[in-house]
Amino acid sequence: MHVLVIGAAGTTGRLVVRSLAENIQHLVKAMVRRTDQMAEMEKLGARPVLADLEQDFSYAMNDVNAVIFAAGSGSSTGPEKTTAVDRDGAVKAIDLAVSHGIERFVMLSSMGADQPDAGPESLRHYLQAKHDADLHLMKSGLSYTIIRPGALTNEPGSGKIEAAARVENRTNSISRADVAEVLVQSLLAEKTESRIFEITGGHVPISEALSGI
Ligand SMILES: NC(=O)c1ccc[n+]([C@@H]2O[C@H](COP(=O)([O-])OP(=O)(O)OC[C@H]3O[C@@H](n4cnc5c(N)ncnc54)[C@H](OP(=O)(O)O)[C@@H]3O)[C@@H](O)[C@H]2O)c1
Repeated sequence: MHVLVIGAAGTTGRLVVRSLAENIQHLVKAMVRRTDQMAEMEKLGARPVLADLEQDFSYAMNDVNAVIFAAGSGSSTGPEKTTAVDRDGAVKAIDLAVSHGIERFVMLSSMGADQPDAGPESLRHYLQAKHDADLHLMKSGLSYTIIRPGALTNEPGSGKIEAAARVENRTNSISRADVAEVLVQSLLAEKTESRIFEITGGHVPISEALSGI
């Protein structure tokens, strides 16, 4: 597949780019915001495209047939950026994917996005933004996969996860490396089409966990 990674220079995004580029089945277009991030993307084996979710980025969708959305406003910005990037940026990306006839859309969401009001007060606005984006994707008509990890760590990937509509060990964290691998494998794993599921660190090899979804 020819895959556009949105948020490609992010901590998870770069691991997604690396994993995709290592697989000869994929061509990778890496969407970044700054020119100084482009060389690293080329080094990883991707074609960089300079674009911002808060501007017109429709050209970034040309010549691709799948999108992995791994962008996020992060915790150091205020609620207005959460709305602009995590909700509106994602919604625009979904609408552009539809208008460009893109086949597959894989969304990095978050555990708790199903019930924003049940989350901690400090996370509610963020979870609501993720919830709204996920709902928009579900209604878009695209072939989608929505992945909701628990807290992310920078530990090395173990290749093993727990994946379920609702995971049992809800306080378990998961490494960004394992999340990246789930995002990439979901592109081609038939069982993940039109599915929303949670993931945490666990004991089941990723491909096996995804085939049991
Ligand atoms: N942290 C957690 O525990 C947790 C748990 C569950 C889910 N998640 C989700 O996982 C996502 C990825 O996490 P992460 O830690 O890998 O994120 P990260 O390192 O903060 O990377 C986010 C990326 O999004 C990009 N971005 C921000 N605003 C943008 C815009 N307007 N246009 C284009 N790109 C933009 C950033 O670009 P720059 O490089 O230019 O800044 C950055 O590369 C989070 O955003 C969140 O939605 C996180």
